[in-house]
Amino acid sequence: MEIVICPTAEDAGEVAAARVAQVATQKGGPAVLGVATGSSPLALYRSLAARVQRGDLDLSGASAFALDEYVGLPASDPQSYASIINETVTVPLGLDPARVHVPQGSAQDLRQACEDYEAAIKAAGGVDVQILGIGSNGHIGFNEPTSSLASRTRIKTLNEQTRRDNARFFPTLDDVPRHCLTQGLGTIMDARAVVLVAQGEGKADAVAGLIEGPVSAMCPGSVLQLHRTVTVVIDEAAASTLTLRDYYAHTYAHKPAWQRFAD
Ligand code: F6R
Repeated sequence: MEIVICPTAEDAGEVAAARVAQVATQKGGPAVLGVATGSSPLALYRSLAARVQRGDLDLSGASAFALDEYVGLPASDPQSYASIINETVTVPLGLDPARVHVPQGSAQDLRQACEDYEAAIKAAGGVDVQILGIGSNGHIGFNEPTSSLASRTRIKTLNEQTRRDNARFFPTLDDVPRHCLTQGLGTIMDARAVVLVAQGEGKADAVAGLIEGPVSAMCPGSVLQLHRTVTVVIDEAAASTLTLRDYYAHTYAHKPAWQRFAD
């Protein structure tokens, strides 16, 4: 796990975008991106969009798979992840909407929708680089604490802390959906590379669990300790409770440029 601690959230977005661009470019063909919603990756998306606009990065042939979607919100709802991915990823990065996939949270048969989603990721050749945030309770995707570390795309019940965290996007807490479809931890672990971004003190404990805690379903993000190509890019506040914080900073500062970012 490569850990990069940046002075600000904006800097973290730049570094994380550089890593995503590196994987996409190294592929030498259309990349398959795994994309997260939420506040954490917004600076990363802005930086990727700037690279596309400058002509430094071409994602026109790329495809994307979102991590999750609320159950019961139509794709046209402004708070659906289909809408948010369109606004924050598809349009700014110049992706072809036909190649951008979001789990079908309004499908008649939700189980079938989950199976179809797994099949679509496989048919695309798997995810080259998965972009992640982390919930304050350690979730990645909507894999809440106690999720199976081997889980696949499925229906999950959102836990109350997640609903409270996301209530800022809805008129009242009661309007926050109770269920979602989410890629499983096993699905996420199949990505060839992972870039996780987190900012702010509210994420510090989750980040400590992810990097330094035991691998445990109580902190679902900790499963990434078993992935061989993870880059974690955080700001100082999110790094504030890491025991080996100085070691990570020192290691990164003294790495030759060619060695930065996991292979
Ligand atoms: C979003 C997702 C979630 C978020 C997490 C952090 O698709 O799957 O795991 O990444 O809840 O949310 P923010 O970034 O809003 O703090």
